[in-house]
Formats: sequence, C-alpha cells, structure tokens
Amino acid sequence: MARFEPVLLANIDRENSHRLSVYESTGGYQALRRVLAEMDPVAFTELVKSSNLRGRGGAGFPTGLKWTFLPKGHPGPIYMCINADESEPGTFNNRVLMEEDPHQVIEGIILSSFATRATTAYIYLRYEYPLSYERLQGAIDEAYAAGYLGKNIQGSDFSLDIYLHRGAAAYICGEETGLIESLEGKRAWPRIKPPFPAVEGVFRKPTVVNNIETVCCVKQIAQRGVDWFKSIGVPADPKNSRDPGSYGPKLYCLSGHVERPGCYEAPLGITCRQLIDEYGGGVWKGRRAKAAIPGGISMGLLTEAELDTPLDFAGPGKVGCLGLGTAAVVVMDETVSMVDFLYNSCRFFAHESCGQCTPCREGTEWSVRMLARIKAGKGRLRDLDLLLEIGDTIGIIPGTTICGLADGAAWPIKNAIRKFRDEFEDYIKRTNPTGYLVTDPVPALQVVSLH
Ligand SMILES: Cc1cc2nc3c(=O)[nH]c(=O)nc-3n(C[C@H](O)[C@H](O)[C@H](O)COP(=O)(O)O)c2cc1C
Ligand code: SF4
Repeated sequence: MARFEPVLLANIDRENSHRLSVYESTGGYQALRRVLAEMDPVAFTELVKSSNLRGRGGAGFPTGLKWTFLPKGHPGPIYMCINADESEPGTFNNRVLMEEDPHQVIEGIILSSFATRATTAYIYLRYEYPLSYERLQGAIDEAYAAGYLGKNIQGSDFSLDIYLHRGAAAYICGEETGLIESLEGKRAWPRIKPPFPAVEGVFRKPTVVNNIETVCCVKQIAQRGVDWFKSIGVPADPKNSRDPGSYGPKLYCLSGHVERPGCYEAPLGITCRQLIDEYGGGVWKGRRAKAAIPGGISMGLLTEAELDTPLDFAGPGKVGCLGLGTAAVVVMDETVSMVDFLYNSCRFFAHESCGQCTPCREGTEWSVRMLARIKAGKGRLRDLDLLLEIGDTIGIIPGTTICGLADGAAWPIKNAIRKFRDEFEDYIKRTNPTGYLVTDPVPALQVVSLH
C-alpha cells in the first residue's frame, strides 16, 4: 500500500516547526484569513457539518452538529473548551500536535471559536505535558503579537482570547463535564447530563468541548475543502442510517510490541494489521501478535484473528469492541499473559474511578480484588462468570452511571474473558490445582492494596 502523505503531521519534521514564522511559511493562518474575510459563522459551521467530521476525542460525535446544539441567539458569553487532557492509556496524538505544530492547533481553535461565536477559549492541558505547555504558550504569545488573537482579529469584527489551563493529573479530567468542573476550580466529578455543556457548560454558560486533533481537522477542512476531506476514509454505509461514515485523515498512536512505535497519520479505515506491519514494521523480535487494543484501553481487545478489522468509527464495534476511541493501538505479542493484562487494566480503572456512582466505584474495585486473587493462585473457575457479571453490569445499563468511564472499564473485562477464556481457565487450574472448583462456602476475598 502506498504510504499516505501526511497532512496533520505535514510540518512536524521541519526545523522549528513550532514557531510562527515556519508555520506561516507553509501557508499557516491563510485559511483563517480567508474564512474571516469571506464567511460568517453559520456558513462555516455548515461547511464543517457537510464534511461529516467526527470528533477525534473518543466518542466520534459529529463536530458541526455539536456546534449547532448551542442555543440560537444567545447573548453570550459562549465558551470553547479544548480538551487536551489526553489521559487514555496509549494515546499521544494530541501531544505530537501541541509540541510540534502548536500554531495548527491555535488556528483550528480560532476557526472553531469563530463558528460557535465563542469569544473565550480554554485549553485544558494534561498536567504531565510540560513541553506542550511551553510550546502552546509560546504559540499563543506569538499569535497575539501577530494579530491572530485578541481584539478584531485580522481586521474582522471577531475577537478571541485563549487561556491555557493545566489539568489536575487524573483520567476523569478528560471527561467533558469532569473537565469543566476542574476548569472551574473544583474536583473533577462529572455532571449528570442533561443539561449538556452546549446548554450549561463552563460557568453554566453554553460551551463546546472539542479535542485537539478535531480542531486541527477543522483547520485542514478550512484550508483544503470538504471534497478533499471526504475523499479520504470510509463512506457512509447506505444500509445503516446510523453510520455517517468515517472521513478524513487520522492520527494513530502505535505502541507496545511493535518494531517501530510512533504516531502515524493514515486514512480512517486502515486495518489494524496494516498499521502494525506497514507502519510499525511488524511485531517486535519476529514474534506473533496475540492481541491489540484498537483505540485506548477502554475500547476492549482485538484478537490476532481480528487484526484485519478496519480502524474506522464502525469497524471495532463489529468485532465486539466498544469503538475506535482515540485510535491508540497497543500491540501485545504472544508472550503476554491476558491475566496480567486484565489485572493491570482493572487496577487503572479502579484507581481512576471518581467514586460518585456505585456500579463504577464498587465494580472496578471488586474486579481488581478478584483478579488479584486469581493472580495469587487462589482463583476459582466461577470467578470468571462473576467478573463477566461485573463487566455486564457496571457500564452497559443506561442511566446507572454518570459518565462513560464505567463503560470503558467494562470492555477489557468482557473482551479478555470472552475472547481468551481458555487462558484464564488454564491459569486458574494450574495455579490452584486443588481448590479451583471450590464454590461453597466462598473463601473470604483477600483485601489487596490497589497501590
Ligand atoms: C473517562 C473519560 C475520559 C476522557 N478523556 C478524554 C481526553 O483525554 N481527551 C478528549 O479529547 N476526550 C476525552 N474524553 C471524551 C470527552 O468527554 C469528549 O467527548 C471529547 O473531548 C469531545 O471532543 P470531540 O467532539 O472533539 O471528540 C473522555 C471521556 C471519558 C468518558
Ligand atoms: S461512572 Fe465512574 S468515573 Fe464516571 S461519574 Fe460515575 S463513578 Fe465517576
């Protein structure tokens, strides 16, 4: 397959790619000038809507459509909130954009704010990204000095201020309402929806939350047009009215047991195997793949036989995963123990659950305890069904939890045990040869520290 010519990552190998002069020398901010001179917010929103751009932050919600949920004729203020929390394990695409091409990010934010009539934009940045902080702040300062930010941008009647806000170093800060709470100076506890942020967001004012890669796609659509964007990716499925297609370029973060881990740009719809073999140089040390995470740990697992799954918004769902998520592919070779994988996943979610909802708080905690017991050689076969019961109840029942973390916690459990059940059973039988069938009375669960 011919390698896709990068667009989102086109500038990153240039010397000083983070500086305004370099960005402008490659046509940077031309799209913004044109949009401000020739379009109004409604027309620009329609343009993005017609591109079918879907948010790159994990849920794949159509961006232009989200913008139209803002109340019409609202006197303001309206806020644009840029989600740069990027805490999903395996995900680092936002980081590459912020560190290596921060002006592309800024131009995308200005265009998105113009469309939504936001006059203040906050970038909520993952605390653990000091270089992103430095580069973004440098780019913001340069953009103010050059008249791309502040009052009457480039002589137009549009004004915008951007504030960079460092996050609170927790996974839940990336959930959009947790992020808003944290931005307001409170604990990042997700809010019950509705009201959705478009109606009541930051400081209870209408707010749009968009991801860094999403606003970079907005900039590319403004520069290259809708036809270009829709010529890449996977068209809408005519037999499925709920599939609006997966258009445009995508950044895939490839890590784990591959020869060349990295952040790669490819069309939506590339298969997981193509990504591993053609971009990542294959599984490391000539080994075989055993499994891969298609899009962050919360999306579940692909088995080796499922690696031909297309990595578009619909693909992973067809093989029993939650979705494409952040398109962070983590490869596991044949030596990886699925028991260890699941134990580590569960520890992560138990640690990151904010604790507001009983199914999430208790379910994640009990899954860790049961897996710790299995790992310690005291597992019983029926533990596997108990774990599946947890997986089937913590996330899937609508309305029982406030946010999507619980659903994300459930998918690794369901996928690992359903797709690799033999391995779990063998492990339990091998490590608990005399006691694994004991069902009654239930041996007391060991209390295991999560830290
Ligand atoms: C637990 C949890 C963590 C999340 N973390 C992030 C994150 O780090 N970055 C992000 O953009 N979206 C994250 N999201 C999704 C956001 O809630 C939101 O959907 C997204 O920022 C919207 O941007 P988009 O429409 O541009 O995709 C997370 C969601 C959940 C449930
Ligand atoms: S689902 Fe979990 S993380 Fe989300 S609000 Fe409820 S307890 Fe908190």
